Order: sequence, then C-alpha cells, then structure tokens
Amino acid sequence: MSAIFEVSRLRKSFGGLTVTNDVSLSMAPGDRVALIGPNGAGKTSFVNLVTGNLRADSGEVRLAGEVVTGLDAIGRVRRGLVRSFQVTRLFQDMTPAEHVGLAILQRSGRSGRMFGNFLAMRDVMAEAADLLDTLGLGDLMHRKVSEIAYGQQRLLEIAVAMALKPKVLLLDEPAAGVPQSDTGRIEQALADLPADLAVLMIEHDMDLVFRFARRVVVLAAGTIIFDGSPADVTKDARVREAYLGSYADAGRAA
Ligand SMILES: Nc1ncnc2c1ncn2[C@@H]1O[C@H](COP(=O)(O)OP(=O)(O)O)[C@@H](O)[C@H]1O
Ligand SMILES: [Mg+2]
Repeated sequence: MSAIFEVSRLRKSFGGLTVTNDVSLSMAPGDRVALIGPNGAGKTSFVNLVTGNLRADSGEVRLAGEVVTGLDAIGRVRRGLVRSFQVTRLFQDMTPAEHVGLAILQRSGRSGRMFGNFLAMRDVMAEAADLLDTLGLGDLMHRKVSEIAYGQQRLLEIAVAMALKPKVLLLDEPAAGVPQSDTGRIEQALADLPADLAVLMIEHDMDLVFRFARRVVVLAAGTIIFDGSPADVTKDARVREAYLGSYADAGRAA
C-alpha cells in the first residue's frame, strides 16, 4: 500500500548535539509500528519534529503525499497527523466531556464558539459520549480530570486524539506511569483502534511492544539502527548492544 506518512532525512541539532540525524521513515494505512530505543535516543524529539511542535533544521514530512513541513502543529492536525504526549497535558479542572467536545469542535472548525456552549450541542456531546463509552470512560464523562485515575487520564488522551479523526497517530509512551493493573485497558484501547489508521507508538515495555507492533523501529543517538519485524529485532546485534540486551537474552521474545 502507498505511504500515508513519509519522513525523509529529518534532522535537528541542539547546539552540538544532533538529536535527529537524517531520519527517514514511512508508514502505510493500517501500520502498527513501535519506536523503541534508550532514554535520550531522540524518540520524543522525532515526534515533536514531525508534528510541528519543534522545527526541523532540514528534511521533509509528507502526509498523503503532501509536504506539511511548512505547516504549524495545528495545520498538521487538520491534515490528520495527531499525537499524544509522554506526560499528560490534560486540564485538571475540566471534564472528559469537555476535553473531547473541544477536540471535536476543533476538528470541525467550530472552535471559535464560546467555550461552554458546546456542552449543549447535541451532536458534539453524542459523539463525545460514544467515544468515551468505547474507551470505558462513559460513566466519568462529567467528572473533573483531577478526580479520575491516572490510567483513565491516559485513556482520555487517546479519546482526545481519536476525536481529531487522525489518519496517522503518534503515541508517546501511552502506558507510562500507569499501574500494571490498568495497562490492560490501555492495551485494549490500542487493539481497538481503527484498522486503517497508521499508528506509531513509543514504548519501553517490550511485552507490550511485541503484542502491539508488526514492525519495530529502533532509534539510538538520533539514528535509526533497525527497521524490521519484531521477530528479527531481538536477533540484531546492534540493537542488542544499544538497547535490548537483557530482554533478548531472557529469550522471551525470540
Ligand atoms: N529543547 C531541547 N534543548 C536541548 N536538548 C534537548 C531538547 N529536547 C531534547 N533534548 C535532548 O535531545 C536528546 C533526545 O531527547 P528525547 O527526544 O527526549 O529522547 P527520548 O524521547 O528518546 O528519551 C536528549 O539528549 C535531550 O536531552
Ligand atoms: Mg521521550
């Protein structure tokens, strides 16, 4: 299938430190890619660059064939490139219904409306309720974010991202900070994502990576050192050295 998301020779340096070193990566609709690598490898920076949260020094990002590198983050979201953050950026005093409602308004170009009014908009609230139900958050939709568990907050972030109707979804450690008892719900939410969506997930939990991904990309010191199948990644000598050593040696994924 042809690429929906194409990154070519993306590059970024902070002073003398090159955090993204001519990174190229493509995804087709329906892809499930895990982006892994040691802390500081440049995974979050890569997502920041492709989404327009950070400006690249050089290189190009295309969505459905169109170059979007000149657009800001909102322009890229409008074209279907959506991300979640490693650390939640939810508003503690707002409710899930308000978060998702605002995302729906933003998507449909109605975000100029007075804040607050949209809670009375039937179409918006029906869609928000549907989406929150799907993620198991229906009963909490009118509670404040500060009153719901961290795992539920992370699910809400997935709901907000989905409300934007992405074609390409980039998830930065969606299960980070979530107690083990709640990661199953996040994994289920990931498994339930639309089949034609292209998803790239940054994740450290290798068991989750191997259940989710059909392709694994390994970043080390700003450079892609592996792009291939989950079965091959554990056998790759460079990957073992840079990142996977103990996991591969344990033989759990071979
Ligand atoms: N705004 C910034 N200014 C300077 N250095 C940065 C900035 N953002 C990230 N870095 C550096 O870039 C490198 C990659 O960071 P990051 O992309 O967060 O890695 P990862 O997500 O893989 O852990 C790190 O060395 C980090 O300190
Ligand atoms: Mg990171």
